[in-house]
Amino acid sequence: MPAISASAPGKIILFGEHAVVYGRPAIAAPVLQVRATATALADIRGASGHIRLEAPAIGLSANLADLPADHPLALAARLTMEALQAIHPPAVTLRVTSTIPVASGLGSGAATSVALIRAFSGFLGRPLPDEQVNAIAFEVEKIYHGTPSGIDNTTVTYAQPVYYIRGQPIEKLQVKHPFTVVIADTGVPGLTAKAVGDVRNGWRQDAIRYENLFDQIGEITRRARQVIEGGDSAHLGRYMNENQEILEQLGVSSPELNRLIQIARESGAYGAKLSGGGQGGNLIALAESDSAGHIAETLQNAGAVHTLITSVQS
Ligand code: PMV
Repeated sequence: MPAISASAPGKIILFGEHAVVYGRPAIAAPVLQVRATATALADIRGASGHIRLEAPAIGLSANLADLPADHPLALAARLTMEALQAIHPPAVTLRVTSTIPVASGLGSGAATSVALIRAFSGFLGRPLPDEQVNAIAFEVEKIYHGTPSGIDNTTVTYAQPVYYIRGQPIEKLQVKHPFTVVIADTGVPGLTAKAVGDVRNGWRQDAIRYENLFDQIGEITRRARQVIEGGDSAHLGRYMNENQEILEQLGVSSPELNRLIQIARESGAYGAKLSGGGQGGNLIALAESDSAGHIAETLQNAGAVHTLITSVQS
């Protein structure tokens, strides 16, 4: 049996993180330069039903049967088998690698799940359709995030810019004119589950204030969609800055994010904000394509540990 490989890209959230958990819209886009890849390799000497999971980057090399129910890769593999009613699959090793930085808001968890589900279901002879891949990856996201909105798994599954509202069918975003975004990693791990939990605590204590902040983010996101689809991205940078201001009020930015965001703006970005859970992780900056390199370099000199330049297009 040949080895079956599949992959899924990273992602950035352009607008609407956190508010999206509370029913407001968000906009996200894939980052195609970084990917998680999974390979399913038949283990011809193994007994049927014997499944091994390997992820060298996190030191994982274990039998599926020995992994706990809440292990994300194990859950992705088990749910794939369940979806296909594969009770005694041929022995297989599922190996996962990734070039997506972890804990930085680039969706590495979701991309890993999607790659694994695709490779494993392909190996079992019945590649699952995107809709099912997405649904399984969403179940796995619950381990990472607690109460995920579903935007990460949706964006990496479809590998398209999306306008996303929790619980609603996905809307692919038509990007009239591609635009350039610089992504810079603060090097401080951003733990999405903690950031989401902190926002939830704040919301419990003062629901009126938080709902109002979520409404403001929702409004910015709707306006951003109009300019992205209309091709007039002149206001997009300002919308990013406005979105960042509210994320700061929600308590999910950090001194390091604020510092690098300021530097991005001063070095020529039209706007900048954190992307993803925050409290660390990545920031994104909207740039003219010919100044993106300079902005990325300035951010690196200022302490960003890793930068990427991506084009958002449909
Ligand atoms: O996985 P991250 O760090 O990109 O965060 C996901 C975005 C949140 O809105 C903070 C959480 C969610 O599930 O939508």
